[in-house]
Amino acid sequence: QDPNEWKVIEAHELAAKFYHYLLSNTKQGERAKHYLRERGMTDRLIDQFMIGYAPEEWDVLSRFLDGRGYPLELMASGGLLSPKSDGSGYVDRFRGRIMFPLWDRDGRAVAFAGRIIDEGQPKYLNSPESMVFTKSRMLYNLHHAKPFVRKSKSAVLFEGFMDVIKAWNAGVKNGVATMGTALTEEHCVSLRRQAEEVILCYDGDDAGQAAVHKSIPLLQSAGLKVLIAILPKGKDPDEYIEEYGPEAFSRLLDDPVSTTKFRLIYSRKSHILLKEEGRKNYLMEAVGIVAELDSSTERELHLKELSREFDVSLEALKQDCHEYRMELQ
Ligand code: UTP
Ligand code: MN
Ligand code: MN
Ligand code: MN
Ligand code: MN
Repeated sequence: QDPNEWKVIEAHELAAKFYHYLLSNTKQGERAKHYLRERGMTDRLIDQFMIGYAPEEWDVLSRFLDGRGYPLELMASGGLLSPKSDGSGYVDRFRGRIMFPLWDRDGRAVAFAGRIIDEGQPKYLNSPESMVFTKSRMLYNLHHAKPFVRKSKSAVLFEGFMDVIKAWNAGVKNGVATMGTALTEEHCVSLRRQAEEVILCYDGDDAGQAAVHKSIPLLQSAGLKVLIAILPKGKDPDEYIEEYGPEAFSRLLDDPVSTTKFRLIYSRKSHILLKEEGRKNYLMEAVGIVAELDSSTERELHLKELSREFDVSLEALKQDCHEYRMELQ
């Protein structure tokens, strides 16, 4: 590997320890620590995930790295520092934020995400892409989760860092997260190397459910079986665990729905079932979704349910389903 890459990774490892120390042992870190406690983060979790604090000052990290002989220009291209606007040197990129180190799959710190304390924009500031960090490949927590994913052949995919950490604490050790960005083909390939199945556990808001909808075909194309854990409206996994506890969360993950079921629920929400036109359109869309199933038993189970609910004969639905299947071929 390129010696510059080593230097940048080494600097991230050092910075992670430095920020973690500042959070755990200094007065400056107290507000951040208090915030984390309020959110249910224990000392053990803070240690396990090396969570830290970047103070408000402009040059805490840059002085620290400079003192240890790290070339500041290289540190800036590695994403830890930013050039001053007048070009006269460098300042810390992360200030006044709670720091989450991001590790590559071998567990080397290659980037950070910094969360603002309480409210403010941007909520998370991420490292820019660099010679050691590519967003479209990053799966947060993969190095911790890998043995658990391999053993169960299953991975749980979350939207956020907090979700992964809280789920870990609730006993769900096979969880990883993308960086708030859309799931990519590279993510899927990397998941497929360790898992046969992925359980999507995204936020229970419209954005989260739309992201599930988009992620399903991508994961399936990589050869992964997909299941979906649906959260109550407006809750993300972290909030769910805080409110209902770890056992309830485990149960939710033990009983995920199929992609067909998810697509039916999703399609249903886009139609007004109180109107005849809406009912009809939903029914046709639903039959189209069911038609994609290879198993005739599974198709029949779904069609029966639709038949009962909408008071349409099973024969009629089967006939339409059959026609959809002819078109699919
Ligand atoms: P969310 O807005 O759902 O955040 O974004 P969250 O994970 O629930 O965060 P908390 O609980 O409020 O602390 C999901 C993910 O999108 C990315 C982050 O990776 C986040 O975990 N994100 C979000 C950003 O990169 N920047 C942002 O400003 C917001
Ligand atoms: Mn510690
Ligand atoms: Mn969200
Ligand atoms: Mn969220
Ligand atoms: Mn959250």
